[in-house]
Amino acid sequence: MLPLIVAHGGAGDWKDERIPIGVKYVAEAARVGFRVLKKSSSVLDAAEACTLFMENCGELNAGKGARPNQDGIIELDAMIIDGSRLDFGSVAAITGIQNPISLARYIMEKTEHKFFAGPNAKRVYDEMIAQGYRREEEGGAIGPLGAAEGADTIGCIVVDSKGRIAVTSSTGGISKKRPGRIGDSPVMGSGAYANSLCGATATGYGEHIMRVVLCRMVTLYVEEGTDPMSAARKGIEMFQKKTGSEAGVIVADAGGNIGYATNAKAMPVAFIQGKLRSMTTLDCLRE
Ligand code: GLY
Repeated sequence: MLPLIVAHGGAGDWKDERIPIGVKYVAEAARVGFRVLKKSSSVLDAAEACTLFMENCGELNAGKGARPNQDGIIELDAMIIDGSRLDFGSVAAITGIQNPISLARYIMEKTEHKFFAGPNAKRVYDEMIAQGYRREEEGGAIGPLGAAEGADTIGCIVVDSKGRIAVTSSTGGISKKRPGRIGDSPVMGSGAYANSLCGATATGYGEHIMRVVLCRMVTLYVEEGTDPMSAARKGIEMFQKKTGSEAGVIVADAGGNIGYATNAKAMPVAFIQGKLRSMTTLDCLRE
């Protein structure tokens, strides 16, 4: 089976002129991740690299470009999932860092816990840096850029030639969120999910995504025999019916089949399967 990466830059009320910018950065993130997959053969390395690119680009609602909370502070949530081991690491409401995805991976791989939040998560981050697990990005998190207006969470799914799956999510959260508010993105099953059969990652209003455990539902549809594209659509239809809210989801199975759907205005999506030149980008506009 051909290796695959699919990435999204967040579903939301994108300004028309910003949609091509979102697509451009998501496409570059997919390229970065795919190159790492080719080189290291690790789905986790590839998913982390793809997500790091989106966190560092300053143009999407994650990492450097994340929107601030009501106090004007950037508080980040992120999660990484190793599907074949049914394992994950999550971090929530962390301030003063730029790359929560690396911390989420550190939590998964190097601690006996799965989920850290707030100031004590920063202590784990400092421990990670001190151990040399990751290099600290220069300058750390920076103030509001406004670039992410209209956009939401970013995320990706990587599937290698053996069908191993890694999934990520990373976000600054919804606009005008209260300090301490945590959304769906670091919550296993809601903001993302993966096992040995399939994986999904979501974007949209976390308060509503958590109510329907969106990513677990979409992957369950795949496990029950629905193809990933129909599963993504069915998940968003179910979500809209039950909550009346907006979201987007991408999904992939271990056989390298993908799906994506949103009921928001737009969701930039890019995927590469097999070879770098097979890149496909989509605005994934509301149907
Ligand atoms: N989906 C991002 C959030 O609600 O925080």
